[in-house]
Parts: sequence; C-alpha cells; structure tokens
Amino acid sequence: MLFSSPWRHYRYVHRNWLELLRLRGAGRPLTLLEIGAGASAILPEALAAYDKQSRYITINENQALTQAFRRKTRRLPIEVEIVEGDAANAGELLPPACADILAFEHSMNDIFQAILLEADGIDTAQGDWFKLLPGMIARINAAYRGGQFEAKLKAPFMTLLQSCAEALKPGGLLALSHYMFQYDLDLGYDPYLWENMLPIVRPWLAALTDGREIALEGYDAQWWFFWEKDNA
Ligand SMILES: C[S@@+](CC[C@H](N)C(=O)[O-])C[C@H]1O[C@@H](n2cnc3c(N)ncnc32)[C@H](O)[C@@H]1O
Repeated sequence: MLFSSPWRHYRYVHRNWLELLRLRGAGRPLTLLEIGAGASAILPEALAAYDKQSRYITINENQALTQAFRRKTRRLPIEVEIVEGDAANAGELLPPACADILAFEHSMNDIFQAILLEADGIDTAQGDWFKLLPGMIARINAAYRGGQFEAKLKAPFMTLLQSCAEALKPGGLLALSHYMFQYDLDLGYDPYLWENMLPIVRPWLAALTDGREIALEGYDAQWWFFWEKDNA
C-alpha cells in the first residue's frame, strides 16, 4: 500500500476506518482514542460520519501539529478532546477503560522515530516535525540496518502500548494501521523496513496482556493489526 496522492490516501483511510467503526459500533455511539494524530483529522471526521453522539480523544505530542489539528476539528459535530503529552503516560493522562477503540493510524512509525530522536536528546514536542523528519529517518534506518531496531524500540513501544491499552474498555479494540508514503521513500526511508514494519513488529505485540489478536475480513494483515481486550 503506497500513497503519493493525498486524495487517494484520504479516501482509503476514511473508508477503512468508517467501515471499522460500523463493524465494531453497530450503530451505538463510540469513544475513539487516537494516539499521535498529528495534524490529521481523518479519524475524527470518520467518527463524525459514523455517529454524532460519539466522542473522540487524541494524545498528541507535537505542539504545532496539535494546533493545526485543533483548527481542523473545531467545527466537527462531535466532542473532540485533545490531550497534549506523551502517550507512554496514557495511564496517568486518561481514566482507565474510557475508550471503545484505541487507534494507531499510521503512527507506529512516528512513535518509533520520536523515541530514537528523544534518546539523542532532541525534543520532538516543540519545533517543526517535518524539519526533524530527515534526522528521524536517518536514525531509524541506522537502527534497522545495524541490527538495533528491536533492542532500541521494543521495550519503550510495548510499555507505551500497554499503558494506552489500559484506556480500553473490556472487549474494546486496539487497531493499528500502517502503509507507505512515497514522500518518506524519497527522503531515504529504508524500503524494506517501510514496507514491512508491521510484520517486523507483530511478534512483539504477542506480549500484550489481557487480550488477543483477531483478524477482520477485508483488512490485510500486512497493513493492519487488531487486538481485542478480554471481557472482564
Ligand atoms: C507526522 S504526525 C502524524 C501522524 C498521523 N498518524 C498520520 O500518519 O498522518 C506524528 C505525530 O505523532 C506524535 N507522536 C509521536 N510519538 C508520540 C508519543 N509518544 N505520544 C504522543 N504523540 C506522539 C507526534 O508528536 C506527531 O504529532
């Protein structure tokens, strides 16, 4: 799944998440928690198209992108809550069991990149994300090609994921998606890593506790991961 056209990307993301909301929500209002929305309003727009009584929450770190997100979602006919902070602290930022769906919509790579930059003492919350991006790509490529990808990323990512999963209601769904932008390939993203990030990470996800991976028809496992929290 490779996108160079913003419109095709928008349609793909909107359609797939709206279908997922219909499948899981079956017509009742949902609370959707998205991690690392950046300036992308596609998920809150899909949620508003699904049901206007639904509620959207994001934990987002970069301040300039959060401001742009706030502007884009201001007029949406649903409740939108923006929590500025590191999703690794989700357990303290949000009440437990508040969300029906926990979404990582193409944000796994951003979380990895931020972890690597922060480890070198570079703040990703302030400043221009896209100016930092070449340095992020250089670091993630170096970690992958140097055999350090898992050693540097697995533990902090799994801690973040487990903390976010506390915000899921029993029976709630964690949905993680990935795809490729041509833009990042042009900036030199390792093509194998960019294409296979989710298959590379999937074995780590087996360590998530109190739930199980599920398959959903029509969603390709190369690009989608679904995990259902146990019913308490
Ligand atoms: C490029 S943006 C947009 C990502 C969006 N999902 C997309 O693909 O369009 C990446 C966002 O992820 C956020 N992010 C990365 N690591 C994060 C973390 N640990 N907690 C919260 N937000 C994080 C960044 O601050 C930034 O706002």
